[in-house]
Amino acid sequence: MTSQPKQTLLIVGASGDLAARLLLPGLGGLLAHGDADGISVVGSAVNDWDDERWRARVAESFAAAGATGENVDGVARSTRYLRADVTAANDWRRLLDACEGRVIIYFALPPAVTERACRTLTDIALAPDTRLVFEKPFGTDAASAKALNQLVARLVPEEQVYRIDHFLGTSTVLGIAGVRFANRMLEPLMNAEHVESVDILFDETLGLEGRAGYYDAAGALVDMIQSHLLQVLSVVAMEPPSSVTARDVRDAKAAVLRATRVWNDDPVGSSYRARYTAGRIDGRQLPSYTDERGIAPNSTTETLAELVVGVDTWRWVGVPFRLRSGKAVGHPRQEVVVTFKAPSRIPAGLTGGKQPDRLHISIALDAGKISLDFNVNGPADPRVIDPVTLSNNLGPGELPAHGEVLKSIFEADPILSVRGDMAVDGWRIIEPVLKAWGDDQVPLEEYTAGSGGPEGWPLAGTSDTSPYIARPEAIAA
Ligand code: BG6
Repeated sequence: MTSQPKQTLLIVGASGDLAARLLLPGLGGLLAHGDADGISVVGSAVNDWDDERWRARVAESFAAAGATGENVDGVARSTRYLRADVTAANDWRRLLDACEGRVIIYFALPPAVTERACRTLTDIALAPDTRLVFEKPFGTDAASAKALNQLVARLVPEEQVYRIDHFLGTSTVLGIAGVRFANRMLEPLMNAEHVESVDILFDETLGLEGRAGYYDAAGALVDMIQSHLLQVLSVVAMEPPSSVTARDVRDAKAAVLRATRVWNDDPVGSSYRARYTAGRIDGRQLPSYTDERGIAPNSTTETLAELVVGVDTWRWVGVPFRLRSGKAVGHPRQEVVVTFKAPSRIPAGLTGGKQPDRLHISIALDAGKISLDFNVNGPADPRVIDPVTLSNNLGPGELPAHGEVLKSIFEADPILSVRGDMAVDGWRIIEPVLKAWGDDQVPLEEYTAGSGGPEGWPLAGTSDTSPYIARPEAIAA
């Protein structure tokens, strides 16, 4: 157990979906694990709730995460709820007065409200050790993210700003650094000389899950690629940091994002979008996306997006990085796949079905797996090459992703948080695609919910049960 000074987590937007589904379960996991010593929690929102109702919500979310124990019950019993309008300075004063010790303000609010709340905070003298935590999306485009950075910089220094990307807290993503840098045999090959392509996929069986209000204005590109998958890319492609510290790691990741742009600067030829139509998935019938409750009849929001980008550095020039994420996809893939180039020459006399060498690193949030596809000759006939796969199930991490990220915040370590410049770069990278889609230059295709997505895209959606069928040749160099 880490001994911590007294700190208060002040959640604004506490009555919302995000707090219930992600933040509170993450906090529950952390408390159960004994990693949030000395934390008290204050919830606040505009809703006319009281302590009792809020405590029931907290207990429910803790239970949903399977979090039990003295610390968990203690917080669920003692947490307080204050009704407040975060655009009113006096309400902020009241909220801050209710907090003990260091204050960590967690904005679980839509971007526009967050911006107004921060503007209001500029009138308040925050304690110098206050930490601010922002959920995604941070801003709505590069310009607004930059403006929000400037506003937030008036409140606290950048090291005390935590822009959450819970993928960075998953044990599988954390594990990428170890796979790359704690082995001699992989890292020397991780460059344009040896790598054909890198795919980063996170398809899900989940559909809209009642999040129309948020999702219809975001879509798969903004919801998943702009944030999570570009963050994963930055870890996969970063230069070896000297140490696993916030400064070294974030510098290395930021350098990757700065060098990343849409493949061939051609957003039309390098992006794909589609939305699901009615279908069955996991035994449930999903309506067409456009028939989901709360979706505008003329919506053009995509639920599946694919984007090819390049990282313009000596190490990665010419290697396509293909990012894909979709909802309501059957047998979804959630992994990073590094496809290596063909060997320089295979000795004459060896025949058989060769496959490219591939390293698969799972980024599934609940179970880590790593595997390596390569070729052997034999065992039956030593002149015939057979593909084999070595794999290891790593199992889930000790903490849920949000718990891991919260832990780093409680320990005042921004290593798992997105730095301001990276948030801006995430938007800058996808903006040409958003523009091309807005101008209708890329067709909005359809796929049946439960299928693997439309045919003919560079990445195939379904492969847990079928052979890997990504086609590097589909990307014109
Ligand atoms: C969230 C997205 O950030 O990540 C969701 O908004 C997505 O649309 C989710 O479903 C995926 O992560 P997890 O942890 O819920 O599997």
